[in-house]
Amino acid sequence: MSTSSGESRIANRIRNATFAQRVTSAADAVRFINPGDTVAISGFASGGTPKDTIPALADRIRDARAGGSDFTINLLTGASVSASTERMLSEVEGIGLRMPYQSEPTARQRINRGQMEYVDIHLSHVAQQVWQGYYGHVNVAIVEVAGITESGELIPSASIGNNKTWLDVADKIILEVNSWVPAELEGIHDVYYGTALPPNRKPIQITRVDDRIGQTTYRVDPAKVVAVVETHARDAASELTKPDAVSESIAGQVLDFFDYEVRAGRLPADTLLPLQAGIGNVANAVLGGLDRGGYKNLTCYSEVLQDSMLALIKDGTVAHASSTSLALSEAGLEEFVANVDTYRNHITLRPQEISNHPEVVRRLGVIAMNGMLEADIYGNVNSTHVMGTKIMNGIGGSGDFARNGYVSMFLSPSTARGGSISAIVPMSPHVDHSEHDTQVIVTEQGLADLRGLSPRRRARAIIDNCAHPDYKPLLDDYFARAEALPDAGQTPHLLGEAFSLHQRYQETGSMR
Ligand code: COA
Repeated sequence: MSTSSGESRIANRIRNATFAQRVTSAADAVRFINPGDTVAISGFASGGTPKDTIPALADRIRDARAGGSDFTINLLTGASVSASTERMLSEVEGIGLRMPYQSEPTARQRINRGQMEYVDIHLSHVAQQVWQGYYGHVNVAIVEVAGITESGELIPSASIGNNKTWLDVADKIILEVNSWVPAELEGIHDVYYGTALPPNRKPIQITRVDDRIGQTTYRVDPAKVVAVVETHARDAASELTKPDAVSESIAGQVLDFFDYEVRAGRLPADTLLPLQAGIGNVANAVLGGLDRGGYKNLTCYSEVLQDSMLALIKDGTVAHASSTSLALSEAGLEEFVANVDTYRNHITLRPQEISNHPEVVRRLGVIAMNGMLEADIYGNVNSTHVMGTKIMNGIGGSGDFARNGYVSMFLSPSTARGGSISAIVPMSPHVDHSEHDTQVIVTEQGLADLRGLSPRRRARAIIDNCAHPDYKPLLDDYFARAEALPDAGQTPHLLGEAFSLHQRYQETGSMR
């Protein structure tokens, strides 16, 4: 997909002579990557993944294998990257270890078969842990940028993720300069260089969603830049399905809850508090419903912005949205590119260590809304492991926001896989967010407000309000018998039966 119409477009994008001299093909650039290397790439959700270098790397790995050599890399990213990137590298069996988040079926399958190591960590921890050296040395960084300034600084593209860290820590850097990224994006980014490891940490001076504390470009040591690859390729679109009755119902419950909180004096009327919504159809439906709530000048402090955000900005419902990535559908991308001058005044993109920073999330009072696979009757939430064993995606940023949010909500349909799985279970076989981090559970059946409730009351609220009618009798029966135990304790469970629904699913294909 490299551009062929060249000279002037690239001259505009690569405004520094030193970097211009390093322009090379993607095939030549990936010769700097060796078997066993740790390779850190740009990309967060569908935004900002390198476009040309990854296919060239997959070819290099395939050729090496055809010649009888083993060739795997350890792959570090911001979060998920474009699906084709995950797929290409997984199909050539090129990834030995993956960190920190993935959401692509081929990669998922290899992980669950034990063919690829996967380390699933909070997104706000990635930069720090790489600095601490847990992932060894970063040999190569491949970073997509929108351009290179005269002074040799890099203009970020549609996501920032961990790019600042990759550029700082990597031995060798390959830059992909993508002239498809609208030049008007320049200035939308806020790259903060003040983070440090303890004991040298300073407060992160963000007190409003639209505060800017950094610079609009990345710094890079030109001596480390071994190749510059030109490309003109669009971001892979994140496709969304239209909200259905279930996601609309969940959205409706959430909006009613906001009204209730406003009436209780816990949320400011009109503006609420900054919203965070996870990625996916339910989150998109919740945000999409906000324009019906009569709100104006809302703010968002999130890690990813989906299509619904563009409409909210356009009609004035949202005044400002901060995130680390734009993950838009085909239609969303077109809308964004056509009106980039407007959107750039209402959006700030930050490194993910700042978009997900616990200190900032806590200070701003973020309303955290994330998806889940299942919750148990006490509110322990499983976001990552199907039946407690098989990875789905990863924890992503959900923990960063859930633990530190002002209100922490988890949203899910009450059943999965055609009703054969209940999202409310007696005991969660894997816990990403413990009962201490979950305050509100919402399904299309209703909302359980767990704040201030002891475990037994939490169980009643979750079963009564959130469970699907097909599963409610099973859960009622379980809880009644657990509570009736002579030594039931603070959090009653029938330990021998706690996973009986999961077992039944494994044996029969249905929890019913
Ligand atoms: N058991 C087994 N599978 C389940 C399930 C359960 N209890 N609940 C949902 N699923 C499956 C669905 O069947 C669906 O599978 P499919 O893709 O094969 O159709 C898939 O999980 C997605 O479920 P869906 O209901 O469409 O919800 P979603 O798109 O909102 O995703 C999570 C739900 C939990 C997978 C998703 O929110 C996630 O990955 N969360 C962790 C990361 C995160 O929260 N990041 C937030 C910051 S962006």
